Amino acid sequence: MTSLYQLVYTSLRNPSCNEQEIEKILDACRKNNPSKNVTGILLHSENHFIQYLEGDKDIIKLYDLIKDDNRHRRPVLLSYGPLKERVFPSWHMGYKSLNKERINFLTAGDQREKEVFQSIIKGEQQSGSGAINLLVKFFHKG
Ligand SMILES: Cc1cc2nc3c(=O)[nH]c(=O)nc-3n(C[C@H](O)[C@H](O)[C@H](O)COP(=O)(O)O)c2cc1C
Repeated sequence: MTSLYQLVYTSLRNPSCNEQEIEKILDACRKNNPSKNVTGILLHSENHFIQYLEGDKDIIKLYDLIKDDNRHRRPVLLSYGPLKERVFPSWHMGYKSLNKERINFLTAGDQREKEVFQSIIKGEQQSGSGAINLLVKFFHKG
């Protein structure tokens, strides 16, 4: 039995990465991820990406490939480790555009979450489960 792994990273979106390029990234996800049994979400704002991947151990190899993509820069790996069950089983690559106001709104009620999120987008190391919980919240309500 292959065990399940999760991976979260953030990066800075390059100015040349317009909406058309986002569509191309999603096309690559749709084309490549299902056969590798990779699911997850890709959140993007004007200046940032946050991607959450779940699959077998080799998602680290996918991250190695994505890291060198010139549509973003300064990738920071926040979390990579074993996972009990998929958080996003039905999304080969869910995606969502986030804006700053929404981020502020979503995190306004909870100081701890706000801090976690701020440190995620600043690229500071965070514990895996904290980051994942926030991503779930953003994806479903954002
Ligand atoms: C933020 C970001 C996330 C990406 N996520 C994925 C992904 O989950 N799966 C994937 O195959 N490619 C992803 N890509 C694209 C890869 O870097 C690469 O362009 C693509 O895998 C090449 O696929 P191809 O050889 O089939 O054209 C991502 C790129 C960026 C900038």
